[in-house]
Amino acid sequence: MSARRAKIKPSSKKQSSAAVRATDTTVDLTRLLDIVATFPRRTICVVGDFVLDQFVSGEISRISREAPVLILRHRRTEAYPGGAANAVNNLADLGARVLPVGVVGDDEGGKILLDYFRGKRIDTSGIFRTRDRATTTKTRYLAGWTHTTEQQVLRVDSEPREELPERVEESLSRKARKNAKNADAVLVSDYGLGAASPEIVRKLSAKRMTLDSRYRLLEYRDAAITAATPNEPELEAAYHLTVGNDMQKLEESGQRTLRDLGLEALLVTRGKDGMALFERSAGKEARLRNIAIYGSDAPVDVTGAGDTVIAVFTLALAAGASYLEAAHLANYAGGIVVMKRRTATVTRTELEAVLRREATAQR
Ligand SMILES: Nc1ncnc2c1ncn2[C@@H]1O[C@H](COP(=O)(O)OP(=O)(O)OP(=O)(O)O)[C@@H](O)[C@H]1O
Ligand SMILES: [Mg+2]
Repeated sequence: MSARRAKIKPSSKKQSSAAVRATDTTVDLTRLLDIVATFPRRTICVVGDFVLDQFVSGEISRISREAPVLILRHRRTEAYPGGAANAVNNLADLGARVLPVGVVGDDEGGKILLDYFRGKRIDTSGIFRTRDRATTTKTRYLAGWTHTTEQQVLRVDSEPREELPERVEESLSRKARKNAKNADAVLVSDYGLGAASPEIVRKLSAKRMTLDSRYRLLEYRDAAITAATPNEPELEAAYHLTVGNDMQKLEESGQRTLRDLGLEALLVTRGKDGMALFERSAGKEARLRNIAIYGSDAPVDVTGAGDTVIAVFTLALAAGASYLEAAHLANYAGGIVVMKRRTATVTRTELEAVLRREATAQR
């Protein structure tokens, strides 16, 4: 197959000016296919906050007589790995060997997660069960009629109030240090629940380490993070600013993050507005490249898309991709996963199919 270059269409005209940006650079699709082919030979250690994503769906039958609320007639409850567990699940479906390190409760939610991973033959020796804290669970209530698209009406989060017990933290830290050494890359997925705290991450040494942190990106400045993948609101929160359509502000805050965290690269995910990749270059201002979204700007379900993005990005880097190639692969995967319902993964076969289709389309 001859080398094909990705040309990604700018998004629809209806969007804001910031959104109507074409992709700044092209990338060799044959090379991307070669990178994906080596995914099964890579080992990724995931240190992070494991979450159970639950979806309770049903039909709205009537309005309650007890209070002015809708009654959801229960049809189904489904559960999927969420948060760091979603990153693990994505890596496994991409063919990588995964070494997860995290904690779940000694409860039904914890059992569901462990059984799910065991079913996929994922090494669960780094997932600790504790009686001191319940498994973090995010439950979405989805309402619909038989022939309509369901809609989320409520989300209930049960998050632990307690800190992680010291002895659990120590076991986690020890296991994380050991697994990090045996991996081609470490993926840190911090949802603020303690398993991937800056204190734990600072003690890790790895060939490369990527970070997704919901609330405290800048607290990882003394950790050896090589690249981070915040979404735009997380970047805005870190520096108390609003980017909106102001590309100048995006550029400034991206440059600042690179410097403050001492990163080689920063991949900012911007929802329907695509991604912005900042890459350090010696002695110069970091280079910024924009990548427009792949596929539709009318997603079916964006739950957990950020976890898919960091999973593909990290695995691609571990497989020898450049930051630009890894970002393009993550962008394709993001475009695929938002077209799936619930917390979902992108498989290696799906990613390859999309790359082949794109290559054929350009012939
Ligand atoms: N509205 C959208 N239209 C098209 N693609 C989208 C949309 N929202 C998200 N995506 C895809 O998913 C990727 C990640 O989404 P986003 O920027 O929302 O990350 P995130 O907020 O960190 O996600 P998460 O909630 O999982 O943490 C985007 O870069 C893009 O590829
Ligand atoms: Mg995210």
